[in-house]
Parts: sequence; C-alpha cells; structure tokens
Amino acid sequence: MKIACFVEAYNFRDSSERRALSKFKSTAESMGHTFEFIYKDDIPAIKNYEALFIRATTDPSSSAYIISRLAEQYGLKVIDEPHSIRTCSNKAILHDLFLKNNIPAPKSLLFTGDYSTDSMDAIFKTLGLPVIIKTPYTRFSSHVEKANNETEFIAISKHLLRKSGILVLQEYVPSEFDWRVGMLRNEVLYLCKYCIPTGGWKVKSKINGRNVWGDTIAMPRDSISPELKEICINLSKCVGEGLYGLDVKETNDGYKVIEINDNPSIYDGHEDAMDTDIYEKIITALVS
Ligand SMILES: Nc1ncnc2c1ncn2[C@@H]1O[C@H](COP(=O)(O)OP(=O)(O)O)[C@@H](O)[C@H]1O
Ligand SMILES: [Mg+2]
Repeated sequence: MKIACFVEAYNFRDSSERRALSKFKSTAESMGHTFEFIYKDDIPAIKNYEALFIRATTDPSSSAYIISRLAEQYGLKVIDEPHSIRTCSNKAILHDLFLKNNIPAPKSLLFTGDYSTDSMDAIFKTLGLPVIIKTPYTRFSSHVEKANNETEFIAISKHLLRKSGILVLQEYVPSEFDWRVGMLRNEVLYLCKYCIPTGGWKVKSKINGRNVWGDTIAMPRDSISPELKEICINLSKCVGEGLYGLDVKETNDGYKVIEINDNPSIYDGHEDAMDTDIYEKIITALVS
C-alpha cells in the first residue's frame, strides 16, 4: 500500500522523534509498503496515496486536520481521522464525554466568567483549592494553570478567558507521574509513566523560568492493571478506533482520567522501550 506520513519540520528536530519516524518508515517498507513523508505543500497530492498517517500536531485549525479530512473524503485509510481530532482536541467536549460515559475523572466544571459570589462559592465548594484552569485547546501543558486561592483564580481565569470564551475548571489531583496509556483499535498498545519533574506539577513544568520535561518510564503493556485497562478501553471506544494516548492519574480514590489525546507522541527509546512492536502494530492497523 502507498502510505503518506504527514509531518512538519519540527517533527524532525528532536533526535529521538526523528529516529521513531525512521522506524515507522523502515517498518512499513519491510512489510512491503511504500512510506513517504509529506508536508503542507504536498496536501493537494494526497489523493495519490492509499493511506495517511499523521504525525504533525493536530487540532481543527491545523494543516494536519485539513489533510485528514481530504484523505477521508478520497477514501484513504487514515490515522488520525477527523472525528478523533475534533473530539480529543477540545477539553470542554471531553469533559462532557467523560460525564456521559461514567469515565472516572477529576471533578470538573465549565466556566465562562461569572464572578458573582454565588458562582465563586459554588466553584470552590465543588472543586476545593487549588483549582486547575485550562483552555479547551491547550497542548503540551501550555494553557493549564493552577490557582492556589481566589485572587489567583480571578487573575489566571481572566487572562485565559482572553484566549477562549470557555474554560475547564478541575479539582487538583496531585501525583508523581501520569500514566500514559497508548491505545490502538481499542487495545492497549503501550504503557508508560510520564514523571512529573521535581518542583513542578505538570509533565512539562516551568521550573525557575525554564521548561523541564519529566522522564518517561516504559512498562510492558501486559503489566497494566485490569482496572486501568478497562477504563482505557471504555474511553477509547467512546472516541473511535484510532491511535490515542490517555493521561490518567492514580489516586487513593482510584484512577482519574485527565484526557485522551489523538496523535500521541511516539519517541524512540520512550514509548517503544518495552513493547518494540508498536511500529508494526500501527502500520498493520493503518493498512487493514
Ligand atoms: N486536574 C488536574 N490535577 C492535577 N494535574 C493536572 C490536572 N489536569 C491536568 N494536570 C496536569 O497538567 C499537565 C497537562 O494537562 P493536560 O490536561 O493533559 O493538558 P495538555 O493537553 O496540555 O497535555 C499534565 O501533566 C497533567 O497531569
Ligand atoms: Mg496531556
């Protein structure tokens, strides 16, 4: 099959992502397929391929979303398809999806800027302090903030409301790491711990003015707890049959799902460190 892999220049910046991309290519070729990296300028040529694998960052305003839609219209096999992009890229939509499907998650509310006493009281009574504040379209922790008190809440939320008319508020669920569960076709593909760097509270934290990423610790996918596995399968089925990365906190009160991402990061030596067959499994899913 003729596979196009949609990328942007930044996908080749990090050597470990670069190595992962070449593993996708060599794996696909060893399975008898052609695998070509294509860029924004190649979008009109997408109809010449039979399958599309997207690695560039997706959200509904991205070139990746446009090519995903075009590929779907031309009848190509696609990972990530447009529906998964639309659902996963919006945290307000996810909030609702979790509620409707009984997915265990931090207590959450949507907020549009009602600073009346009643509204403030309801927020802090429901969520406690600190409160996590996010814009619906955040990526890589960029618009995820923590307010320790009401004054901080007002300042941070007012600032974020300039970026988006609606915010997601959540109770703060502290942890030393996020589980990252890679899902493909509603099965567990890989399992990792994304550690929170010391002194921070997010996988990517600003510490002394510098962005620091925590370590990734891969675990064999079969070591996943049955409870976590069930939650991840249920959630992934709510979105579709694609490739997803789920962020989950483990607490004394059970697992709490933070989010489901389409287009999860795959870096050589990280997500593939234990289950090295993930490239083959993704290519197989893409072409079948
Ligand atoms: N309610 C929460 N409590 C504690 N940490 C959180 C909460 N929500 C998000 N985080 C942490 O913030 C980081 C980014 O949050 P996430 O919702 O996954 O947004 P992004 O799409 O930017 O990755 C992750 O490390 C996540 O664990
Ligand atoms: Mg995340």
